[in-house]
Amino acid sequence: MFQLQEVRKSYVRRGHAVTALGTSSLEIARGEYVAIVGPSGSGKSTMLSVLGGMLTPDAGKVLLEGVSLYDLSVAKRTAFRRERIGFVFQTFNLVPYLTALENVQIPLYLAGLPAVEQQARATELLGRVGLGERIHHKPSELSTGQQQRVALARTLANDPPVILADEPTGNLDPDSRRIVLDFFDQLHSESRTILVVTHDAIVADRAKRSFYLRDGAITDQPEQPKLRVA
Ligand SMILES: Nc1ncnc2c1ncn2[C@@H]1O[C@H](COP(=O)(O)OP(=O)(O)OP(=O)(O)O)[C@@H](O)[C@H]1O
Ligand SMILES: [Mg+2]
Repeated sequence: MFQLQEVRKSYVRRGHAVTALGTSSLEIARGEYVAIVGPSGSGKSTMLSVLGGMLTPDAGKVLLEGVSLYDLSVAKRTAFRRERIGFVFQTFNLVPYLTALENVQIPLYLAGLPAVEQQARATELLGRVGLGERIHHKPSELSTGQQQRVALARTLANDPPVILADEPTGNLDPDSRRIVLDFFDQLHSESRTILVVTHDAIVADRAKRSFYLRDGAITDQPEQPKLRVA
């Protein structure tokens, strides 16, 4: 499904280059549920953005379903991404002045669905995440966990086969985290491909495979503790 081939990404600020992602290769099969774990600054968000077609790497290729994302024109890449990838963020990225229903309608509107169908589908999705009674609430009128569920409903609007999530539970209390993780389990059982970036061992444990990033390099194992307490 996903192939990262010798991808590299640096950021240059005031003439100073920071290597966020060293030359990295990896393959993720269709339907896999994978966690990307690593310390702050290790390159996790950079990797997710590169995988998601949102950040052009300096070198290497990213293939999604065999298509080289960064060999597409920007317009084609955007369309390809919209059809196939749903993003979930730590900060939800809801539009504050729109209701839950309207927020979920956005991707359906962008896809050109008639208004009546947008509303029907958005209502159904909000019901699916347990917010059927809250569809006319704005983000500020919802709890944090409910806001993340609205964001999840929006992510699912176009029925994407791939979900990329960056610390999706970073701002949530344990109960809301469990609801979101149970939902990810459901999405996995529907054969979607899920990649979740996290610091949280409880989140990583739900995934079927984890890999670790350290200083922009992929390893299979977390760094071993240097000190052992007898
Ligand atoms: N837009 C940017 N400009 C310059 N440097 C950046 C930029 N974005 C990230 N970096 C640097 O690239 C490195 C990797 O950043 P990245 O955001 O991918 O880390 P991360 O693993 O997601 O961290 P966190 O867990 O804190 O979110 C860091 O050293 C960071 O300072
Ligand atoms: Mg990050």
